[in-house]
Amino acid sequence: MTSLLEVEGLVKHFVAARSVFGRPTAHVKAVDGVSFTVEAGKTLALVGESGCGKSTVSRLVLRLIEPDAGTVRFEGRDLGALNANELRAFRRDAQIIFQDPYASLNPRMTVSQILSEPLALHDLVPAARRRERVDELLRLGGVGRRYPHEFSGGQRQRIAIARALAVEPKLIICDEPVSALDVSIRSQILNLLRDLQDRLGLAYIFVSHDLAVVKHIADRVAVMNLGGIVETAAADALFAAPRHPYSRALLSAIPVPKPQAKRSRIVLEGEMPSALHPPSGCRFHTRCPYVIARCRTEVPPLLADGSGHATACHRTAELPASEAIVPADGDFSPMLEKLVAAFSGGTEGAGRAGVDLSGTPPSNRG
Ligand SMILES: Nc1ncnc2c1ncn2[C@@H]1O[C@H](COP(=O)(O)OP(=O)(O)O)[C@@H](O)[C@H]1O
Ligand code: SF4
Ligand SMILES: [Mg+2]
Repeated sequence: MTSLLEVEGLVKHFVAARSVFGRPTAHVKAVDGVSFTVEAGKTLALVGESGCGKSTVSRLVLRLIEPDAGTVRFEGRDLGALNANELRAFRRDAQIIFQDPYASLNPRMTVSQILSEPLALHDLVPAARRRERVDELLRLGGVGRRYPHEFSGGQRQRIAIARALAVEPKLIICDEPVSALDVSIRSQILNLLRDLQDRLGLAYIFVSHDLAVVKHIADRVAVMNLGGIVETAAADALFAAPRHPYSRALLSAIPVPKPQAKRSRIVLEGEMPSALHPPSGCRFHTRCPYVIARCRTEVPPLLADGSGHATACHRTAELPASEAIVPADGDFSPMLEKLVAAFSGGTEGAGRAGVDLSGTPPSNRG
């Protein structure tokens, strides 16, 4: 069976400097050979530090920018080979929501106008039925009519989500959708996204620098470092036993609940190298606690085992097994969250797929 989205060998280098004659003299290797798949109705989380190339991958997948190399196939069809009509249809099927709902909503439009705009643009619903459709979207997003400035950050992100849903997409790229929100609001938005996924069969690419957020929502996780994927696995497998030294370090930085707080934190030495001058060989070698000579010269390929858990490290087989990681909710206060959820009822999106705030790993997701 073909996956909803198949990304293969994506490369994007940006010109960072030019000579006086306009010839490129330096490139940022933002994305350097990225491959992954996303299944219909599932969530792939793309995780890594700021600047590792997550947003560039998102823009490449949506074909907002052209890749230097590689292919993106949606429902089996190469996006690079679509004609104008087919590309228009794809632009309906794949939507994006951003970190900053303040910037992405027109302050002079009411929420109803914001939601009817894409309906008119794509000529999806006859004019007479649009109001009905907008009411349905307002209900799905748990927001009323009025202007965006009358809403809080969390409510505005709901409006952005409702607007993305207006055109009935199959895939939504969520680029750091909760990073700008108060921690008390984050799990409400994550609940809403999961609830909508269950009800509408949506697929997500969930982009985040924060693994603690990702554990709530991901079916699969791909960990990125400096333009490449270093590890990808089912979310429960990755949280139970991360293999790549970089994933281990990222996961070790997530706070654990008190009874399990025995895990030691791996502190990475040194700065993250620049994508302008990425290290030779393994791009993690300047910060890796397990580095050997070979790592400095040979690029480790991303190799999968029988279960589909893939790691790009020369020493995968010989490294000691990592401790199981059961992250808590960072600075979430579980009691406060439960209280908020109890008071906010259905409109807050805490439906049957509600996030469990007791710190259970995502393997328990139904
Ligand atoms: N349009 C651009 N021109 C030049 N460099 C860019 C451009 N867009 C992104 N970059 C660079 O590419 C790298 C990856 O950026 P980005 O994809 O935004 O990372 P992330 O979303 O993971 O923070 C960064 O070094 C960034 O500075
Ligand atoms: S290949 Fe070498 S430097 Fe890279 S992660 Fe593995 S052990 Fe570390
Ligand atoms: Mg980004």
